Amino acid sequence: MLIDGHGRKVDYLRISVTERCNFRCQYCMPEKPFSWVPKENILSFEDMFKFVKASIDQGIKKVRLTGGEPLLREDLDKFIGMIYNYDSNIDLALTTNGFLLKNVAQRLKDAGLKRINISLDSLIADKAAKIAQKDVLKDVLEGIFEAKKVGLHVKINCVPIQNINDNEIISLLEFCKKEGFVIRFIEFMENSYAKSGLKGLKSSKIQDIISTKYHFKKIPRNSTSPAQYFALDDGYEFGIIEPHLDDFCASCNRIRLTAEGFLIPCLYFEDAMSIRDYVRNCDIDGAIEILKKVLSNKPEKNKWSDESEGDSSRAFYETGG
Ligand code: 5AD
Ligand code: SF4
Repeated sequence: MLIDGHGRKVDYLRISVTERCNFRCQYCMPEKPFSWVPKENILSFEDMFKFVKASIDQGIKKVRLTGGEPLLREDLDKFIGMIYNYDSNIDLALTTNGFLLKNVAQRLKDAGLKRINISLDSLIADKAAKIAQKDVLKDVLEGIFEAKKVGLHVKINCVPIQNINDNEIISLLEFCKKEGFVIRFIEFMENSYAKSGLKGLKSSKIQDIISTKYHFKKIPRNSTSPAQYFALDDGYEFGIIEPHLDDFCASCNRIRLTAEGFLIPCLYFEDAMSIRDYVRNCDIDGAIEILKKVLSNKPEKNKWSDESEGDSSRAFYETGG
């Protein structure tokens, strides 16, 4: 079992398989082109898999593949298959922007993927295009429906931003309710790559907006979920992810691996240690030693709740949110 320096059990590994993305979401990436990490610095799926196997042996029970946009990476279904064949009980999930999903959803499902989180910030094409800085809505919706059709468990992520999509909170909720998807609204996490001046909606504001039309109740918090869930009177449940709240970090059970092989203990902070050379040299014990070192130094909490701290300088497109 893996335990961090604050006594929290860590059993959830998030792997960003690429930092590259085919969107430029205003809250995540700089608008101008910038240089990506050179391909030779990126871990192959074979090398990543060596680490995944060892971390499963150490007690990891859930693996989520993220990006950037993970579907940009060829053979993602094969990587999923490798993990599934090693341990079919692993809770295997993917976070994607959905743009390339339609044609691969069935393959991902067949490889062993169980759950999928898809970003959907607007149901209005122009607005979706404004946020992602590309005309994306039609393909994303097709991807979402295909995922549902092939039997993947679908959750929708939405980041409400003032004066952009804050007037769509109810319509997005109603869309998900109708289609049988859980929606989670994520508080915008300020970071130095986002467009300047963006202001997110805090949980209380999101709740105020929903309460103009629906009555709902807080559901007691599940110990490891980052989301606070609420139930409408008809039983439909939605979530809000509240990284600005202090207790958000108390139950953190996760560790992140980037495409370059850095282990990142917390989304907010810059600290990281690399396992790349260890896995490339097949020194798996060495990689696990690094994992344990990173866990022992995992911060107790992020600093988004501390107004005086300013933005995080960690790039979300490297760590997959
Ligand atoms: N604040 C909140 N959520 C973010 N995401 C990406 N960047 C941010 C941010 N700055 C979300 C995306 C996606 C998930 C991977 O993380 O919307 O759903
Ligand atoms: Fe790409 Fe996701 Fe960042 Fe949007 S939020 S630019 S889809 S990595």
